Amino acid sequence: MASMQQATAHDATKGLVAAGLNTQTLAGSVATSTRIWPAIDMPEVKWTPAVERETAAIYERLKNVIPSVEWPFHAPYIHAINRIKKQRNAVILAHNYQAPEIFHGVADVVGDSLQLARLATKAEGDVIVQCGVHFMAETSKLLNPHRTVLIPDSRAGCSLASSITGADIRLLKQRYPGVPVVTYVNSTADVKAETDICCTSSNAVQVVESLGTDRVIFLPDEYLGKYVQTLTKVKLILWKGHCEVHERFTGEELRAYRDADPSVQIIAHPECPPDVLAEADFTGSTAHMIDWVKTRRPAKVVMVTECSMASNVAAEVPDVEFIKPCNLCPHMKMITLPNILHSLVYMTEEVLIDPAIAERARLPIERMINLNA
Ligand code: 13P
Ligand code: SF4
Repeated sequence: MASMQQATAHDATKGLVAAGLNTQTLAGSVATSTRIWPAIDMPEVKWTPAVERETAAIYERLKNVIPSVEWPFHAPYIHAINRIKKQRNAVILAHNYQAPEIFHGVADVVGDSLQLARLATKAEGDVIVQCGVHFMAETSKLLNPHRTVLIPDSRAGCSLASSITGADIRLLKQRYPGVPVVTYVNSTADVKAETDICCTSSNAVQVVESLGTDRVIFLPDEYLGKYVQTLTKVKLILWKGHCEVHERFTGEELRAYRDADPSVQIIAHPECPPDVLAEADFTGSTAHMIDWVKTRRPAKVVMVTECSMASNVAAEVPDVEFIKPCNLCPHMKMITLPNILHSLVYMTEEVLIDPAIAERARLPIERMINLNA
Protein backbone atom coordinates (compact mmCIF):
# COMPACT_ATOMS: atom_id res chain seq x y z
CA MET A 1 0.00 0.00 0.00
CA ALA A 2 2.81 2.39 0.98
CA SER A 3 4.61 1.80 -2.31
CA MET A 4 1.37 2.37 -4.22
CA GLN A 5 0.91 5.71 -2.46
CA GLN A 6 4.48 6.62 -3.28
CA ALA A 7 4.05 5.64 -6.90
CA THR A 8 0.91 7.76 -7.13
CA ALA A 9 2.64 10.77 -5.59
CA HIS A 10 5.61 10.34 -7.86
CA ASP A 11 3.46 10.05 -10.97
CA ALA A 12 1.44 13.09 -9.98
CA THR A 13 4.60 15.10 -9.51
CA LYS A 14 6.11 13.90 -12.75
CA GLY A 15 2.94 15.02 -14.49
CA LEU A 16 3.14 18.50 -13.01
CA VAL A 17 6.83 18.86 -13.75
CA ALA A 18 6.36 17.51 -17.29
CA ALA A 19 3.71 20.15 -17.83
CA GLY A 20 6.27 22.78 -16.78
CA LEU A 21 4.20 23.77 -13.77
CA ASN A 22 5.51 24.92 -10.44
CA THR A 23 4.29 22.26 -8.03
CA GLN A 24 4.79 24.56 -5.06
CA THR A 25 2.32 27.24 -6.11
CA LEU A 26 -0.02 24.99 -8.07
CA ALA A 27 -0.69 22.36 -5.46
CA GLY A 28 0.28 24.20 -2.24
CA SER A 29 2.91 21.52 -1.93
CA VAL A 30 6.46 20.63 -2.77
CA ALA A 31 7.47 17.43 -4.50
CA THR A 32 10.43 15.11 -4.30
CA SER A 33 10.90 11.85 -6.19
CA THR A 34 9.29 9.82 -3.42
CA ARG A 35 6.55 12.08 -2.04
CA ILE A 36 4.55 15.24 -2.16
CA TRP A 37 5.06 17.38 0.92
CA PRO A 38 2.93 20.15 2.38
CA ALA A 39 4.19 23.62 1.51
CA ILE A 40 5.77 25.54 4.37
CA ASP A 41 6.16 29.30 4.16
CA MET A 42 9.70 30.62 4.47
CA PRO A 43 9.72 32.00 8.03
CA GLU A 44 10.80 35.49 8.91
CA VAL A 45 14.41 35.24 10.08
CA LYS A 46 14.64 37.91 12.75
CA TRP A 47 16.51 38.44 16.03
CA THR A 48 13.80 38.85 18.66
CA PRO A 49 13.67 38.45 22.46
CA ALA A 50 11.90 35.10 21.93
CA VAL A 51 14.66 33.85 19.60
CA GLU A 52 17.31 35.02 22.06
CA ARG A 53 15.56 33.23 24.93
CA GLU A 54 14.90 30.01 23.04
CA THR A 55 18.46 29.70 21.66
CA ALA A 56 20.21 30.69 24.91
CA ALA A 57 21.11 27.09 25.83
CA ILE A 58 22.69 26.53 22.40
CA TYR A 59 24.70 29.74 22.69
CA GLU A 60 25.95 28.63 26.09
CA ARG A 61 27.69 25.71 24.30
CA LEU A 62 29.07 27.97 21.58
CA LYS A 63 30.12 31.03 23.54
CA ASN A 64 33.84 30.11 23.46
CA VAL A 65 33.92 29.93 19.68
CA ILE A 66 31.25 32.38 18.42
CA PRO A 67 31.54 36.03 19.53
CA SER A 68 28.34 37.44 21.07
CA VAL A 69 28.09 40.09 18.31
CA GLU A 70 27.73 37.32 15.72
CA TRP A 71 25.06 35.35 17.56
CA PRO A 72 22.10 37.55 16.43
CA PHE A 73 22.96 36.57 12.83
CA HIS A 74 23.03 32.81 13.50
CA ALA A 75 20.35 32.39 16.16
CA PRO A 76 17.25 33.23 14.05
CA TYR A 77 18.29 30.62 11.45
CA ILE A 78 19.01 28.01 14.12
CA HIS A 79 15.64 28.71 15.70
CA ALA A 80 13.78 28.41 12.37
CA ILE A 81 15.68 25.30 11.22
CA ASN A 82 15.06 23.44 14.47
CA ARG A 83 11.34 24.21 14.23
CA ILE A 84 10.91 23.25 10.57
CA LYS A 85 13.08 20.16 11.02
CA LYS A 86 10.39 18.82 13.37
CA GLN A 87 7.57 19.72 10.96
CA ARG A 88 9.33 17.81 8.18
CA ASN A 89 10.28 14.91 10.48
CA ALA A 90 13.84 15.44 9.24
CA VAL A 91 17.17 14.42 10.68
CA ILE A 92 20.27 16.55 10.09
CA LEU A 93 23.56 14.66 9.71
CA ALA A 94 26.68 16.84 9.96
CA HIS A 95 30.31 16.00 9.34
CA ASN A 96 32.94 17.07 11.90
CA TYR A 97 34.12 19.77 9.43
CA GLN A 98 30.86 21.70 9.50
CA ALA A 99 30.94 25.19 11.01
CA PRO A 100 30.19 25.33 14.78
CA GLU A 101 26.79 27.01 14.34
CA ILE A 102 25.71 24.01 12.24
CA PHE A 103 27.57 21.31 14.21
CA HIS A 104 26.34 22.46 17.63
CA GLY A 105 23.28 24.46 16.54
CA VAL A 106 21.13 22.25 14.30
CA ALA A 107 22.75 18.82 13.77
CA ASP A 108 21.06 15.73 15.23
CA VAL A 109 23.93 13.41 14.41
CA VAL A 110 27.60 14.36 14.01
CA GLY A 111 30.67 12.31 13.21
CA ASP A 112 33.39 11.22 10.83
CA SER A 113 32.61 9.59 7.49
CA LEU A 114 32.33 6.10 9.00
CA GLN A 115 30.09 7.20 11.86
CA LEU A 116 27.85 9.13 9.46
CA ALA A 117 27.59 6.13 7.12
CA ARG A 118 26.72 3.84 10.04
CA LEU A 119 24.24 6.29 11.51
CA ALA A 120 22.66 6.83 8.10
CA THR A 121 21.57 3.17 8.21
CA LYS A 122 19.78 3.87 11.51
CA ALA A 123 18.44 7.31 10.63
CA GLU A 124 14.87 7.87 11.69
CA GLY A 125 12.58 10.34 10.06
CA ASP A 126 11.25 10.92 6.57
CA VAL A 127 14.00 13.22 5.40
CA ILE A 128 17.78 13.28 5.79
CA VAL A 129 19.51 16.63 5.35
CA GLN A 130 23.21 16.00 4.78
CA CYS A 131 25.43 18.78 6.02
CA GLY A 132 28.63 17.67 4.39
CA VAL A 133 29.79 17.13 0.83
CA HIS A 134 28.04 15.41 -2.04
CA PHE A 135 29.64 11.96 -1.70
CA MET A 136 28.40 11.85 1.92
CA ALA A 137 24.86 12.66 0.78
CA GLU A 138 25.14 9.96 -1.89
CA THR A 139 26.22 7.45 0.77
CA SER A 140 23.16 8.36 2.84
CA LYS A 141 20.92 7.96 -0.20
CA LEU A 142 22.48 4.60 -1.10
CA LEU A 143 21.71 3.37 2.40
CA ASN A 144 18.24 4.96 2.48
CA PRO A 145 16.82 4.48 -1.01
CA HIS A 146 13.23 5.08 0.13
CA ARG A 147 13.90 8.25 2.08
CA THR A 148 14.28 11.75 0.73
CA VAL A 149 17.91 12.81 1.08
CA LEU A 150 18.67 16.51 0.68
CA ILE A 151 21.92 18.41 0.42
CA PRO A 152 21.68 22.17 0.90
CA ASP A 153 24.14 22.82 -1.96
CA SER A 154 24.82 20.01 -4.42
CA ARG A 155 27.93 21.79 -5.70
CA ALA A 156 29.71 20.79 -2.46
CA GLY A 157 32.20 18.39 -4.04
CA CYS A 158 35.56 16.93 -3.01
CA SER A 159 38.92 16.95 -4.78
CA LEU A 160 39.40 13.27 -3.95
CA ALA A 161 36.00 12.26 -5.32
CA SER A 162 36.61 14.18 -8.54
CA SER A 163 40.09 12.68 -9.05
CA ILE A 164 38.80 9.37 -10.44
CA THR A 165 35.94 7.95 -12.52
CA GLY A 166 34.32 4.55 -12.92
CA ALA A 167 36.05 4.27 -16.33
CA ASP A 168 39.47 4.75 -14.65
CA ILE A 169 38.73 1.83 -12.33
CA ARG A 170 37.63 -0.39 -15.19
CA LEU A 171 41.02 0.25 -16.84
CA LEU A 172 42.88 -0.50 -13.59
CA LYS A 173 40.99 -3.77 -13.24
CA GLN A 174 42.11 -4.71 -16.76
CA ARG A 175 45.70 -3.90 -15.86
CA TYR A 176 45.59 -5.84 -12.56
CA PRO A 177 43.15 -8.69 -13.18
CA GLY A 178 41.81 -10.37 -10.05
CA VAL A 179 43.26 -7.74 -7.67
CA PRO A 180 40.46 -6.45 -5.40
CA VAL A 181 39.57 -2.76 -5.34
CA VAL A 182 39.27 -0.87 -2.05
CA THR A 183 37.81 2.61 -2.46
CA TYR A 184 37.80 5.41 0.08
CA VAL A 185 34.24 6.62 0.73
CA ASN A 186 35.37 9.99 -0.65
CA SER A 187 34.25 8.87 -4.10
CA THR A 188 31.21 9.09 -6.37
CA ALA A 189 28.53 6.39 -6.63
CA ASP A 190 29.81 5.67 -10.14
CA VAL A 191 33.24 4.78 -8.69
CA LYS A 192 31.78 2.82 -5.78
CA ALA A 193 29.82 0.75 -8.30
CA GLU A 194 33.18 -0.59 -9.63
CA THR A 195 34.51 -1.33 -6.15
CA ASP A 196 34.76 -4.48 -4.03
CA ILE A 197 34.68 -2.76 -0.65
CA CYS A 198 34.80 0.80 0.69
CA CYS A 199 36.87 2.11 3.56
CA THR A 200 37.22 5.31 5.55
CA SER A 201 40.24 6.73 7.32
CA SER A 202 38.96 5.02 10.51
CA ASN A 203 39.04 1.46 9.18
CA ALA A 204 41.29 1.41 6.08
CA VAL A 205 43.88 -1.05 7.47
CA GLN A 206 41.25 -3.53 8.67
CA VAL A 207 39.38 -3.30 5.35
CA VAL A 208 42.55 -3.91 3.31
CA GLU A 209 43.51 -6.90 5.46
CA SER A 210 39.98 -8.34 5.44
CA LEU A 211 40.37 -9.32 1.79
CA GLY A 212 43.05 -11.92 2.45
CA THR A 213 45.06 -11.05 -0.70
CA ASP A 214 48.70 -9.98 -0.99
CA ARG A 215 47.81 -7.00 -3.24
CA VAL A 216 44.91 -4.55 -3.41
CA ILE A 217 44.12 -1.56 -5.59
CA PHE A 218 43.59 1.29 -3.09
CA LEU A 219 41.86 4.44 -4.40
CA PRO A 220 41.85 7.37 -4.77
CA ASP A 221 43.82 8.98 -1.90
CA GLU A 222 47.55 8.49 -2.46
CA TYR A 223 48.56 9.87 0.94
CA LEU A 224 46.04 7.81 2.89
CA GLY A 225 47.30 4.83 0.89
CA LYS A 226 50.93 5.61 1.76
CA TYR A 227 49.98 5.86 5.42
CA VAL A 228 48.07 2.55 5.34
CA GLN A 229 51.08 0.99 3.57
CA THR A 230 53.20 1.73 6.68
CA LEU A 231 50.77 -0.37 8.75
CA THR A 232 50.19 -3.43 6.56
CA LYS A 233 52.18 -6.02 4.60
CA VAL A 234 49.53 -6.08 1.86
CA LYS A 235 50.97 -4.33 -1.22
CA LEU A 236 48.84 -1.33 -2.18
CA ILE A 237 48.52 -0.14 -5.76
CA LEU A 238 47.80 3.59 -5.44
CA TRP A 239 46.15 6.40 -7.40
CA LYS A 240 47.32 10.02 -7.34
CA GLY A 241 44.23 11.65 -5.82
CA HIS A 242 44.76 14.22 -3.05
CA CYS A 243 42.65 16.20 -0.63
CA GLU A 244 43.09 19.85 -1.53
CA VAL A 245 42.86 20.84 2.15
CA HIS A 246 45.29 18.35 3.69
CA GLU A 247 47.87 18.47 0.91
CA ARG A 248 48.51 22.15 1.74
CA PHE A 249 50.07 21.37 5.14
CA THR A 250 53.85 21.02 5.26
CA GLY A 251 56.26 19.35 7.65
CA GLU A 252 58.13 22.66 7.80
CA GLU A 253 55.17 24.62 9.22
CA LEU A 254 54.64 21.95 11.88
CA ARG A 255 58.32 22.05 12.89
CA ALA A 256 57.91 25.82 13.32
CA TYR A 257 55.00 25.23 15.77
CA ARG A 258 57.12 22.75 17.71
CA ASP A 259 60.16 25.04 17.73
CA ALA A 260 57.99 27.85 19.11
CA ASP A 261 56.71 25.57 21.90
CA PRO A 262 58.22 22.07 22.32
CA SER A 263 55.32 21.03 24.59
CA VAL A 264 52.74 21.37 21.80
CA GLN A 265 51.01 18.17 20.64
CA ILE A 266 50.55 17.72 16.91
CA ILE A 267 47.80 15.42 15.65
CA ALA A 268 47.13 14.89 11.96
CA HIS A 269 44.66 13.37 9.54
CA PRO A 270 46.03 10.59 7.28
CA GLU A 271 45.01 12.53 4.15
CA CYS A 272 48.12 14.68 4.88
CA PRO A 273 51.38 14.12 2.95
CA PRO A 274 53.99 11.79 4.53
CA ASP A 275 56.35 14.62 5.63
CA VAL A 276 53.45 16.07 7.66
CA LEU A 277 52.55 12.73 9.26
CA ALA A 278 56.23 12.27 10.16
CA GLU A 279 55.89 15.30 12.50
CA ALA A 280 52.66 14.11 14.14
CA ASP A 281 52.35 12.68 17.66
CA PHE A 282 49.12 10.96 16.59
CA THR A 283 47.47 10.19 13.25
CA GLY A 284 43.80 9.29 12.88
CA SER A 285 40.42 9.98 11.34
CA THR A 286 38.54 13.08 12.45
CA ALA A 287 36.62 11.07 15.09
CA HIS A 288 39.84 9.48 16.39
CA MET A 289 41.49 12.93 16.57
CA ILE A 290 38.54 14.29 18.56
CA ASP A 291 38.62 11.32 20.97
CA TRP A 292 42.37 11.76 21.39
CA VAL A 293 41.98 15.42 22.43
CA LYS A 294 39.00 14.76 24.71
CA THR A 295 40.79 11.90 26.45
CA ARG A 296 44.36 13.25 26.66
CA ARG A 297 43.46 16.92 27.28
CA PRO A 298 46.82 18.31 26.09
CA ALA A 299 47.54 21.90 27.20
CA LYS A 300 48.18 22.90 23.58
CA VAL A 301 47.34 21.05 20.40
CA VAL A 302 47.67 21.60 16.68
CA MET A 303 44.94 19.72 14.81
CA VAL A 304 46.29 19.26 11.32
CA THR A 305 43.00 19.03 9.46
CA GLU A 306 40.10 21.22 8.35
CA CYS A 307 39.95 24.26 10.56
CA SER A 308 36.31 24.19 11.75
CA MET A 309 36.90 20.91 13.55
CA ALA A 310 39.17 22.57 16.10
CA SER A 311 36.38 25.12 16.82
CA ASN A 312 33.84 22.33 17.26
CA VAL A 313 36.04 20.54 19.78
CA ALA A 314 37.16 23.78 21.45
CA ALA A 315 33.51 24.50 22.28
CA GLU A 316 33.53 21.32 24.42
CA VAL A 317 37.03 21.41 25.92
CA PRO A 318 37.75 25.01 26.96
CA ASP A 319 40.82 23.88 28.96
CA VAL A 320 42.71 22.92 25.76
CA GLU A 321 44.41 25.63 23.67
CA PHE A 322 44.04 25.02 19.94
CA ILE A 323 46.71 26.38 17.66
CA LYS A 324 44.91 26.57 14.36
CA PRO A 325 46.57 26.50 11.00
CA CYS A 326 43.31 27.49 9.31
CA ASN A 327 42.86 25.46 6.13
CA LEU A 328 39.16 25.51 5.29
CA CYS A 329 37.49 23.05 2.92
CA PRO A 330 35.69 25.27 0.37
CA HIS A 331 33.24 22.45 -0.35
CA MET A 332 32.25 21.84 3.28
CA LYS A 333 31.81 25.60 3.68
CA MET A 334 29.19 25.70 0.91
CA ILE A 335 26.76 24.40 3.53
CA THR A 336 25.38 27.31 5.52
CA LEU A 337 22.50 27.97 7.90
CA PRO A 338 20.56 29.94 5.23
CA ASN A 339 20.80 27.13 2.67
CA ILE A 340 19.88 24.46 5.27
CA LEU A 341 16.72 26.45 5.99
CA HIS A 342 16.03 26.85 2.27
CA SER A 343 16.55 23.11 1.82
CA LEU A 344 14.00 22.18 4.51
CA VAL A 345 11.39 24.69 3.39
CA TYR A 346 11.56 23.90 -0.35
CA MET A 347 12.77 20.25 -0.04
CA THR A 348 15.81 20.85 -2.23
CA GLU A 349 18.35 19.76 -3.45
CA GLU A 350 17.28 16.16 -3.64
CA VAL A 351 20.04 13.56 -4.04
CA LEU A 352 19.13 11.12 -6.81
CA ILE A 353 21.21 8.19 -8.04
CA ASP A 354 20.62 6.13 -11.16
CA PRO A 355 19.03 2.92 -9.75
CA ALA A 356 21.32 0.66 -11.84
CA ILE A 357 24.40 2.36 -10.36
CA ALA A 358 22.90 2.57 -6.88
CA GLU A 359 22.31 -1.16 -6.71
CA ARG A 360 26.02 -1.85 -7.34
CA ALA A 361 27.36 1.12 -5.36
CA ARG A 362 25.46 0.11 -2.20
CA LEU A 363 27.23 -3.26 -1.89
CA PRO A 364 30.79 -2.05 -1.11
CA ILE A 365 29.44 0.32 1.55
CA GLU A 366 27.35 -2.43 3.13
CA ARG A 367 30.37 -4.78 3.08
CA MET A 368 32.39 -2.15 4.92
CA ILE A 369 29.65 -1.54 7.49
CA ASN A 370 29.13 -5.27 8.02
CA LEU A 371 32.84 -5.75 8.62
CA ASN A 372 32.28 -3.75 11.81
CA ALA A 373 35.90 -2.56 11.81
P1 13P B 1 36.91 11.43 8.16
O1 13P B 1 35.94 12.29 8.89
O2 13P B 1 36.34 10.11 7.85
O3 13P B 1 38.21 11.32 8.90
O4 13P B 1 37.19 12.10 6.74
C1 13P B 1 37.78 13.32 6.61
C2 13P B 1 37.43 14.01 5.37
O5 13P B 1 38.22 14.68 4.76
C3 13P B 1 36.06 13.92 4.90
O6 13P B 1 35.93 14.63 3.77
FE1 SF4 C 1 37.29 16.36 0.17
FE2 SF4 C 1 39.38 17.23 1.54
FE3 SF4 C 1 37.15 18.66 1.58
FE4 SF4 C 1 37.26 16.29 2.85
S1 SF4 C 1 38.40 18.11 3.35
S2 SF4 C 1 35.62 17.03 1.50
S3 SF4 C 1 38.62 15.15 1.51
S4 SF4 C 1 38.41 18.24 -0.22
